[in-house]
Amino acid sequence: MSSRSWFSKLLLPWYRENHRPLPWRETRDPYRVWLSEVILQQTRVDQGLGYFLLFTERWPTVADLATASENEVLKEWQGLGYYSRARNLRTAARQVMDEHGGRLPENHADLVMLKGVGDYTASAIASICFHRPHAVVDGNVYRVLARVFGIDMPIDSTEGRKRFKELAGELLDPKQPGDHNQAVMELGATVCMPRSPDCPHCPLHANCIALATGTVQALPVKQGRTKSRDRFFNYLHIRTAKGLYMQQRTGKDIWQGLWEPPMVESKAPVKNRSLKAELDHAFGKGWTVSAKGAEARHVLSHQVIHAVFWTVVPPKGHAPPEEWELVPLKKLRALAVPRLIERWLAPSLE
Ligand code: ADE
Repeated sequence: MSSRSWFSKLLLPWYRENHRPLPWRETRDPYRVWLSEVILQQTRVDQGLGYFLLFTERWPTVADLATASENEVLKEWQGLGYYSRARNLRTAARQVMDEHGGRLPENHADLVMLKGVGDYTASAIASICFHRPHAVVDGNVYRVLARVFGIDMPIDSTEGRKRFKELAGELLDPKQPGDHNQAVMELGATVCMPRSPDCPHCPLHANCIALATGTVQALPVKQGRTKSRDRFFNYLHIRTAKGLYMQQRTGKDIWQGLWEPPMVESKAPVKNRSLKAELDHAFGKGWTVSAKGAEARHVLSHQVIHAVFWTVVPPKGHAPPEEWELVPLKKLRALAVPRLIERWLAPSLE
């Protein structure tokens, strides 16, 4: 019997019985499936569900999303992280309107032409909505396949990725590619979990090499993380009677398009005196750095942000740089901000 048939034969009935009822599983609307997959690349189902409902309520169709402003989409995405995904969603919605008459394309080759849609998302949409035989490979799939087939090739190596992609393709049930893909992911999310897999309830347990050889905890193998970089963000809390100075992040860096207080990045933690010297140098002499306020550590996938919020007073008659915007407290709430800034602002917005 080929590996495909036993794998699918065991997995699909389990999926039909056990899958979580989720709103994007009750539809074949490619817009909803697309949105759910982009959200689920960023977070788990329990948190993602709320975002999905908010997005679809506010923008029920791709045409609606195409009319949204970038700040509106970033604001709705706030807290999920990796904000380029949100910007890309909006850009791709516009592409769907302009290039595809408002309907998502059905095939993988056209789907990957959309901004931000890679092999994973294209395979998910093509298989779930249009029954095309493309296997998805995400973190859940790596884990399930590595364990069931006892593969110790690193999942973050080029050869490893290729091997897993090939295997996923061989296993795919071409008659039910959408359910098959979702079944593997669902098994990874609810049974074959990273730390405490529920092997006794796994439909594949009798065929699982990792279970038979006692290597469940050791698989999948990762080559090693790229070292994460420490960054030091010194935020300038400049309060005036008219509000707070804020600045929109631009350039190829984290949080593009989001708002934050004016910020001076340093290579290491700074003291009052050196921050004052830096401000005098960058924005003209006469700054007062009156207090070191809140400190926060924010961990991202490849960097750790060490943030300090300094209360500072500009020199008399200081003309703020053009990029700084004086935002009245009432209007702060509408700005899309990183989680770190949201937490810092929260008390002033109550
Ligand atoms: N994770 C990401 N997409 C998923 C899906 N469609 N089903 C289950 N888990 C998922």
